[in-house]
Formats: sequence, C-alpha cells, structure tokens
Amino acid sequence: MMEDLSLHILDIVENAVAAGATRVLIAVNENEKRDILAFRVTDNGRGMSREERERALDPFFTTKRKRTGLGLPLLAQAAEVCGGRVIIESVPRKGTRVTARFRFGHIDRPPLTKMAETMMTLFFGHPEVEFRYRQTHNGLRFSYFRSAIAGRAAASAEIAALRDSLRTGLKKIGVS
Ligand SMILES: Nc1ncnc2c1ncn2[C@@H]1O[C@H](COP(=O)(O)OP(=O)(O)OP(=O)(O)O)[C@@H](O)[C@H]1O
Ligand SMILES: [Mg+2]
Repeated sequence: MMEDLSLHILDIVENAVAAGATRVLIAVNENEKRDILAFRVTDNGRGMSREERERALDPFFTTKRKRTGLGLPLLAQAAEVCGGRVIIESVPRKGTRVTARFRFGHIDRPPLTKMAETMMTLFFGHPEVEFRYRQTHNGLRFSYFRSAIAGRAAASAEIAALRDSLRTGLKKIGVS
C-alpha cells in the first residue's frame, strides 16, 4: 500500500496526462465533521471504453508497456479498507473522472501529506497541461490555476513564487 494519499493523487493525475489530457482538475476535500476525505481528478484525455473502465480496477491490467497497472487497483483497495470507494466515470474521446473517497477518521486511512510538493511535481513535470487545483479543508478553500506554459522552461524565481503561494495557501486552510 502506498504511504501517502498524495502519491495516489500523483498517480491518478499521471494517468490523466498519459491519456493525452490538456486540462486537468484536481479537487481534494477533507471534512472531519462529515468524516470524509475525498479527491477527484477530472481530465479531458482520450477516455476509456466501458470494458477498459471495468478492467482498470483489475490488478495487472495495463495498456502501457513495462507498467504494472497497479495504480487504480491499489487506490481502490486503500479506499475500500477505509470504508470508502473509487468511482471511475469515463467517456471515450471526452475524458475521465476518478473519484476516491475515504472515511476521514478511519484508523487505516493513509495521511494526505505533501500536497504542495505533489502539485509542484505535476506543474513542473507537465508545463503543457492546464491545471486547476482546489483543496478544501473543513470548509476552507484554497484554489490555484496554472495555465499551460507553451515551450518555455520556468525560471527559478517563478518556481520559488509558486512554491510560496502553494505553501502559504495550504497553511492558511490548515493543510500542512
Ligand atoms: N485518466 C485516464 N484516461 C484514460 N485511461 C486511463 C486513465 N486512467 C487510467 N487509464 C487506463 O487504465 C489503465 C490502468 O491504470 P493504472 O494507473 O492502474 O495502471 P498504469 O498507469 O497502466 O500503470 P502504473 O500506474 O502501475 O504505472 C491504464 O493503463 C490506462 O489504460
Ligand atoms: Mg497509473
């Protein structure tokens, strides 16, 4: 099992980018009172057929070479252990939406951790992709929009500024 939920989020977003997405929405919602931790990744990639969608939760199914195809099944297993589930909605040529839900207070729920670092990895790993990031923590919200950067490497000042706004924004809503 993966240690942090942020690693699962990274994996699900990497799937979206691998599927040719140019726009990805990442929404994370933590609500202690309602005992929910949920995240949703919505992309405009190539989508999955019904058969592919069903097989995607199957361990060892992958369309990629040299991949284990464990990303989604591991996430589904982690969610189910914690009284939640994973839902995949997908329309071929339109896109995919993966939703994972956990019981916030479940003893086995992995911690979220390192969301700022995860977003940094995604933003700088995929400059060509437009990202919308929304994090909600007990009703407080932080949003970040990162437009696609065509053919231009990010300057280090930009990287520092981005890191600062992610860290400050998340700290304000109580996400470390
Ligand atoms: N967002 C998506 N859009 C289109 N197809 C997807 C998407 N996410 C997953 N898939 C399909 O589901 C398969 C399984 O995904 P999963 O993350 O479980 O494994 P993988 O990405 O193939 O391998 P790994 O994550 O272990 O490197 C993918 O190979 C791909 O065919
Ligand atoms: Mg994957």
